[in-house]
Amino acid sequence: MTLLQINASIFSNHGQSTRLADEFVTAWRASNPDAKVVVRNLAEETVPHLNAERFGAFLAKPGELSVEQQAVVEYSDALIDELKRADVLVLGLPMYNFGVPSTLKAYIDHIARAGATFKYTDKGPVGLLTGKKAYVFATRGGLYAGTALDTQTAYVRDMLRFLGIDDVEFVYAEGLAIGAERKATALSEAQRAIERLVVPEAIAA
Ligand SMILES: Cc1cc2nc3c(=O)[nH]c(=O)nc-3n(C[C@H](O)[C@H](O)[C@H](O)COP(=O)(O)O)c2cc1C
Repeated sequence: MTLLQINASIFSNHGQSTRLADEFVTAWRASNPDAKVVVRNLAEETVPHLNAERFGAFLAKPGELSVEQQAVVEYSDALIDELKRADVLVLGLPMYNFGVPSTLKAYIDHIARAGATFKYTDKGPVGLLTGKKAYVFATRGGLYAGTALDTQTAYVRDMLRFLGIDDVEFVYAEGLAIGAERKATALSEAQRAIERLVVPEAIAA
């Protein structure tokens, strides 16, 4: 069993989303002591923006790759390999300027590759990353869940489904910028949600 934790906060370990993801992983580890946990911090290991040159490397035939293109493909392959090895995916997801962090978008642009993580069929695209469970810890200064302004949930859910990951749980901590009391309530509610996710039977009892 392998868990891949992807942290997208610019504040690395101090990010609220990272902290919630960490809390989940710590609790999850207790129930899965033999599991391997891999952490990818997108703030420290920033994935380059996708550009025409890099995308061209993804499309080029193996024998026709330049040295630079080969390096781009190997880098993307390594990210994909890490993701493929994971049984559980944990994502710390802050909202920045009404969207997902640009570091996360750059990561996604390097792991969404035809023939590697999805394929085209007569019936449309099919995701190849099946059999995984994902947990998303979304933190926001304002209140958006369930409204049209929450562009993140639909995007992340649709993107993961496109890749074949359709078992996805979202935990939200919202209103973190509204005031100290609202923040404390939001974080403790998120913690309770994490407890329910990790040991649902203990909470129900
Ligand atoms: C650059 C930046 C942009 C932000 N934009 C938004 C926003 O559009 N909507 C919102 O509700 N909160 C916004 N916030 C507040 C963050 O969502 C909030 O602080 C959250 O806790 C960030 O998660 P993190 O601590 O894991 O990085 C923004 C924060 C930063 C630093």
